[in-house]
Order: sequence, then C-alpha cells, then structure tokens
Amino acid sequence: MSEPLATIFHVSDIHIGEAGVTVKDLKKAISSIEETAASSPSPILLVTGDLTTEGLREEYEGAASVLNEVTIPKVIIPGNHDERNYGSVIFEELFGDRFKTFESDQLAIFAADSAEPDNDSGHVGRVKYNEIRDFFNQAKNKVKIFALHHHLIAVPHTGREHNVVEDAGDVLGVLDGARCSLVLNGHRHVPWMWRLGEMVLYNTGTLLSRRVRGAMTQLHTRVVLSPEQVSFTLCYKNGKERLFAESPLRI
Ligand SMILES: [Fe+2]
Ligand SMILES: [Fe+2]
Repeated sequence: MSEPLATIFHVSDIHIGEAGVTVKDLKKAISSIEETAASSPSPILLVTGDLTTEGLREEYEGAASVLNEVTIPKVIIPGNHDERNYGSVIFEELFGDRFKTFESDQLAIFAADSAEPDNDSGHVGRVKYNEIRDFFNQAKNKVKIFALHHHLIAVPHTGREHNVVEDAGDVLGVLDGARCSLVLNGHRHVPWMWRLGEMVLYNTGTLLSRRVRGAMTQLHTRVVLSPEQVSFTLCYKNGKERLFAESPLRI
C-alpha cells in the first residue's frame, strides 16, 4: 500500500444519556484517538451522529465537553437521536451547522444532516442535491467523501430494515454522478462495507452504546486514505484492533 494521504477517525453513535454510557468513557476513547492521531498523516475526527440518546441539553453538554476540546480538524453532524425533543437547536448552539463541509489538499468532505425532528427515518432532500453536486464538482483530483448518519444501502446482520434514507436512490444517483469516492455513515451500530460500482460505502459501529448487535462490540474505525486505496481498521473499546476491509478508491 502506498503512503497514506490522510487518516479519518470515524466515530458514531456515542449515545451519551444511555444507561452505562459515561462522559468519562467518551473522554478515554477520544484521548486514545488523539494519541494515534499525533503520529498519523493529516488526521481528522469525523462524528456521524447520535452523540446523545434523547437530544437533551445535559447529554449534549456531556458530549461537547469532550468533542469540542479536540484539537485536530473535526466534522460533527447529528443523528436521529440528537433530533429527538427538538435537540437540533442545542446541536447548532454547541456544534454549529447541521450541514458541514471540510476541504484539504487531499480531500473534500460534504457532511449532511439526514435526521429530522422526532423521526428515526433518514432523509437528505432534493433541495441539497445541487449543493452536493457543485461541491464535489469543484473538488476534482481530491478524495470526495459524503458523510451522513443514516445508511444508503441496507446493512447485513442488523435485523429487519426500516431506516434506509427515504431518498436513497436519488442520493446515490447524485453521488455517483459527482464521482463521490466514499460514503461514511453510522446508525446501525454494525461495521460493514459495500462497493457500488466505483463508489465505496462504509457503515461504522457504535462507539459506546450497549445496543450492539449479535457478537459485535463497541468501536470506532480508523479510515486510512492512500492514493486510489482505502482501508478500514476496527479499533475496539478494549484497545484491540482488526483490519476489517480494504478497497480501491476513485478520485
Ligand atoms: Fe445510534
Ligand atoms: Fe441512529
């Protein structure tokens, strides 16, 4: 594998507020990420939603007390749990816009809020399609990444499907047309990679929730981007690591 261009520490589904999920555990997980990031090329922290469980201020403040202290570049978007009880207002107060972009010499990230108040279903919306196309079209020669909370394709080992993004077909069409390289999301609490044509779609697991599925445990994913290649390493809560998948990556 050639020299890495960038490393994305992909965290999702923290679920502060759930019984047994503590701010102390979040601090420990993020400290370990920062330690690895210190020796990684162009590190970025990406958090794809469900920071909280009920979207309540006390949960948000617990998450923000750790995440907002991170000094490497970070991109944080909400998930369906964060928009319960109209929590999007508190998200914006503590973490800024619900839609974000990030660009460096190597990559361009468009991060979308796929959640809606008090609705567990995912949705991106036609009103955003041109913005996504324009952003990726001006990012030629960069790794183009679309991040969101919900999944665009159903994930195995997660039981019956009911939360694929409602406009998934149209969103996939927009992303493929704009030569998106990689989609990163969470929500299902199970890691999985799909390839759709030349596009790679990766679903990470939950950082801290007890609501894991089957034999899966809590984790985050280290996504290493190299010229024309990506690898996904599962970094478990207990400190162990496992290379999960690798794939060619289009620019
Ligand atoms: Fe979740
Ligand atoms: Fe979720």
